[in-house]
Order: sequence, then C-alpha cells, then structure tokens
Amino acid sequence: MLKVGILTISDKGAQGQRQDKSGKVIRDKLSLLESQVIKYEIVPDEMEVISHKLAQWADEGNTDVIITTGGTGLSQRDVTPEATLSIVDKVVPGFAEAMRTKSLNQTPMAMLSRATAGVRGKCLIINLPGSPRAVSECLEVILPAIPHAVEIIKGVVTEHSCKRQGLINAN
Ligand code: MTE
Repeated sequence: MLKVGILTISDKGAQGQRQDKSGKVIRDKLSLLESQVIKYEIVPDEMEVISHKLAQWADEGNTDVIITTGGTGLSQRDVTPEATLSIVDKVVPGFAEAMRTKSLNQTPMAMLSRATAGVRGKCLIINLPGSPRAVSECLEVILPAIPHAVEIIKGVVTEHSCKRQGLINAN
C-alpha cells in the first residue's frame, strides 16, 4: 500500500478563497493505484513554508510519495521547484521530462511548467502544475512508474518484482 501526501500550493487556496479542485483530482487518480492518502495540506506560495513542509513529511518516515500541485510556473510567486530542489538528496528529472514531453501533445503551454522531482531519504517528491486539467494529464503519464520508483527507493526491489513488471527479461 503506497502512502501518499498531497501538498497543494496556492496563495488563494491557503486563504480559503479557492476550492482545491486539483487536490481532489490527485486523490481520484491515485485510487487507480493501491494507495492511501495519509497527509494533505494547502500552503501558500512561500519558499520556506513549502520546503519546511516537504522536509517534515519526508523525515517523518511514513510517506512514500509526496505529490505537490501548483507554483511551478513563471510568476514571481511560483517557487515550488526551488523549494523542492532545496531539500531533496537526489533529483529525478525523468518524471518532469515525461510530463512535459507528453503534455506538449495537448498544449504548448506544457513547456511553461518548471516542475521537478526528487528523493529525500526514502520519500519520492513530485511536482505537478496547478490546474486540475494539468494535474489529470500529468498524473496519467507518470502514474505507471510510481510504484516501481518507490520500491527502488525503499530497497525492496527483487529480481522477482522486476520480472513481474516486465522490467527485465523473464527468462
Ligand atoms: N500541463 C498539462 N499537461 N496541461 C496543462 O493544461 N498548463 C500549463 C503548464 N503545464 C498545463 C500543463 C500552464 S498554462 C502553466 S502556466 C504551467 O503548467 C505552470 O502551472 P502552475 O504555475 O499552476 O504550476
């Protein structure tokens, strides 16, 4: 069972002025995986607040994946990628590369997201853009790779599990 944290990053959402539709989309899409949302919060677009929350959740040790939504664009207040990069041990470029590449088929605006991903301790952290549509499109791309990524991070990958997922030759 994948233990998930959802962090919605939005000034308006944090002030209660906007409903968090994107957080709900993440929940709905995650139900396709064997997963449980164990943490959920809305925070403003503040570098220190975001990085502190990500580090805190990761360091508590019971969250396998944190998915953030929002704050990945080009406005002055968009600092989610910087906050994420400031606390990860390893950067995992493939998630954002895949999201941007596939999303470009849907909209040229995909190139405006600076989303990143990385690992802190045993926790995978992935940024998604803020709009519900973007969240849905991007999660569809990366969802299939998340369980195996978590297995590797937790050190529970066996030859058997790779074969099961068709990741290595079954012979
Ligand atoms: N990616 C997908 N798949 N679909 C989208 O509609 N919107 C883009 C981009 N990525 C979009 C997307 C837009 S319009 C912006 S401004 C950036 O994500 C950044 O969004 P954010 O600042 O809400 O994180």
